[in-house]
Amino acid sequence: MNIRFQAGGPAAWKADIALLFVCREDAPADSQPELAQAAPWFTIAPGLRDFRGDKEERLLLHGLPALPLPRLLITGLGPRDACALDVFRLAVAGAVRRCRELGLASILLPAPSLERLPGGGLRLLEEAVFAACTGLYNGKKWQKRKDKDEEKPDPEWLALGFTEGFVPDEARVMARRGEHSACGLALARDLTNAPPNLLSPAALADRAEELAKRHNMRCEILGKTQIEAQGMGGLLAVGAGSANEPRMVVLEYCPQGCEGQKPLTLVGKGLCFDSGGLSLKPALNMHHMKGDMGGAAAILGALEAIALDAMPRRIAAVLACAENMPGGHAARPGDVVATLAGLNVEILNTDAEGRMALCDALCYAQRLFTPEILVDIATLTGACAVALGSQIAGLFCTDAPLNEHMQTLGAAVSDHLWPMPLWEPYKELLKSDVADLANIGPREGGAINAAIFLQQFVEKDVRWAHIDMAGTDRIEKGNALAPVGGSGYGVRLLVELARSTVPEGVPVPAALP
Ligand code: BES
Ligand code: MN
Ligand code: ZN
Repeated sequence: MNIRFQAGGPAAWKADIALLFVCREDAPADSQPELAQAAPWFTIAPGLRDFRGDKEERLLLHGLPALPLPRLLITGLGPRDACALDVFRLAVAGAVRRCRELGLASILLPAPSLERLPGGGLRLLEEAVFAACTGLYNGKKWQKRKDKDEEKPDPEWLALGFTEGFVPDEARVMARRGEHSACGLALARDLTNAPPNLLSPAALADRAEELAKRHNMRCEILGKTQIEAQGMGGLLAVGAGSANEPRMVVLEYCPQGCEGQKPLTLVGKGLCFDSGGLSLKPALNMHHMKGDMGGAAAILGALEAIALDAMPRRIAAVLACAENMPGGHAARPGDVVATLAGLNVEILNTDAEGRMALCDALCYAQRLFTPEILVDIATLTGACAVALGSQIAGLFCTDAPLNEHMQTLGAAVSDHLWPMPLWEPYKELLKSDVADLANIGPREGGAINAAIFLQQFVEKDVRWAHIDMAGTDRIEKGNALAPVGGSGYGVRLLVELARSTVPEGVPVPAALP
């Protein structure tokens, strides 16, 4: 669906349908002078009499077919003080999906109507476009028989209606941001939802390379031989049991003028499938482990959005891609492997593979770059999912300002984070009888133990945050914004983090028309 702008004022607005979102306190007919000018018929529509503006309430009104705006879909947002951003996003996604069900080709969203909602016009413009595009996301690429509401093609365009005779620059920028975030989110979801037989580590690396080519980024991919030659014994061990060899992917986004910046450095877990290896997982829900590359997917999605935004921010990414399988060449419990950092790790459980892959990726990232901030994101531990559930990811960060900053950013885009401790005394629990470090601690505090393991591979003065997204990687109960499957968690969080670290005074490029 294309995003357009109609700047000619209400009299010139034209589309198959107009959308209106109102809180309980707002009487639709009286509170929307622009829409009343564009479609005067709606203010006397009898159907309005029973409309209350409750959350999820929808009313479809029809005017004469020949009018420039022959239909209006009003969606209730519930009481004003309870109308948070996620209520608004869900309402927009639901409304756009309804337009698709109706088989409509074009949609108009009057920008002035957003200014009347809590949160304010510009920010809601971004969220509206994001939600409209994301609501149409269809992950069922391998289903030949489509669901009823997805039988119809997507609407061709959504136009934002303005009154001033022109589109303010900031409005254009915000609308495009929303569009770009949705695009990045869709990429992350597509990658996460891809069946593991169709997305091997090599294929994931190819997708990263394609992304880099699309946006003029630097991309280097290490194959098995180079991983071995570099001394990345951790990643090598994780991939040893699989016929699909591991890859270490390095990306660098550095638009002109940003060469002097220390990069925001992102490290992602890219386990295309995690069977557990010889410490095999139970059969129940093992198929979900195709999504064990959700961290890497979030980074690729974020980079897509950031590059589309032409954000003036240098960003580096290192993705540890592998498939964790049992087999004759697989790592055994009891194996000792040499990591890139020089620490020898005893593998006590081959299912604790994420940290084995990430420790080499973290070390490599710090060797190649001087991170301004280092963030790793991974579907790392079931323990984190047990602790925090499916709506909040764990945040491990000893840098207090960064910790708080990330929580704030996450809340704004509904990629929620909760602070977890890097409890120093638990370091003891990772001691090995034979090597420098064991790859597991006790079951209790599993998410913390994993985070502390990673911390051993982060240089002292580096501002580092670890995100454990094992609980938030999948949507189990779908809604208009997020169908069952990969959630795309982390994409918007990382985009916001990047945006928030654009140095002051660097001009943000103008949005596309
Ligand atoms: N990929 C899993 C973690 C996971 C579990 C992600 C559920 C998403 C949903 C990870 O590699 C793993 O297996 N962790 C083990 C660690 C244990 C062996 C110390 C776990 O959580 O059980
Ligand atoms: Mn595992
Ligand atoms: Zn895993």
